[in-house]
Amino acid sequence: MRVNDPKIVASLAELGVELRPETKLSELTSLGIGGTTDLLRIKKHETIPDLLNLLDANHIPHKFLGGGSNLLVSDGELPWVVLQLAPPDPDVIIEGNLARVAAAADLGRTVTYCAKQDLGGMEGLIGVPGTVGGALRMNAGAYGMQIGTYVREVDLFRAATRKIEKVRGHQISFEYRHTSFAPDDMMLAVTLELPSKPYNEILKGIRICNEKRRSSQPLGQKSAGCIFRNPPGASAGRLIDELGLKGLSVGDAQVSDRHANFFVNTGHASAKDMLALITDVRERVEKSYGVALENEVVVWNA
Ligand code: EPU
Repeated sequence: MRVNDPKIVASLAELGVELRPETKLSELTSLGIGGTTDLLRIKKHETIPDLLNLLDANHIPHKFLGGGSNLLVSDGELPWVVLQLAPPDPDVIIEGNLARVAAAADLGRTVTYCAKQDLGGMEGLIGVPGTVGGALRMNAGAYGMQIGTYVREVDLFRAATRKIEKVRGHQISFEYRHTSFAPDDMMLAVTLELPSKPYNEILKGIRICNEKRRSSQPLGQKSAGCIFRNPPGASAGRLIDELGLKGLSVGDAQVSDRHANFFVNTGHASAKDMLALITDVRERVEKSYGVALENEVVVWNA
């Protein structure tokens, strides 16, 4: 969707919002899939209410993009603009055991930065692509840990009140790859309370997690991490693998031959290809096991 009315363009400039016309979302998603639209980069949180009022008043639908690492976006010209937070500098501030982190901060770099300040706990998240805001929204986790455990406070733009609010960690419910935030709430910043640990010890943990990930996941290939949530008591990857579906493909969308719950883009896969592959695998699993797999990947279907 194009924002080319000069009045709206001027209002965006007044709000300090950067307009990046005709942005290819395929370049902003780890799957390398997604059509074209105008991207609005937000530099100051306090402008968000006015920005959303401006968009609503002009009937411009929007979506909010984090790091694009757990996202499948439709092909072609997209019918909404995309909002994204620009990371502040610095994006992590440490005070004792507290790390105050911008939602737009890169997750991996945040884990290593905190480690260097002798703050641990997040080792399992090393190698998970995306932003801290994205990890927070879906309570990202791996190797027995989840980010929600360490959340002391969150700054968010609450869609229901249209206000920027602070929420204490104990007021948020963190479940398996799910939180009590509303779908349109925007994560702005989080304060993590992390356990003190010597850097060398944290580094050992990081190396172990890196090694496990390297040996079991298709790192370096375009993917959105796991496509399906694990059903209770089972691994979606194992169920798909047991059906012999590794390598199954639709166009350039393929079930990874390394981990069957990762679907990779081996070249120029379209969203249509990837969605067809997801549907095909879901149907086969349901037919064989009677288990209806739910998406973990977020789909923006135009
Ligand atoms: N397995 C297979 N074949 C496969 C994949 C897995 O047989 O193709 C077997 C493994 O051998 C193992 C079991 O299934 O015995 C579980 O596999 P794994 O340890 O890889 O864990 P997972 O349940 O498939 C979950 C998370 C990952 C996270 C890993 C490590 C979900 C949907 N997936 O995978 O998270 O990295 O554990 O903690 O919860 C993600 O959320 O995007 C993600 C990748």
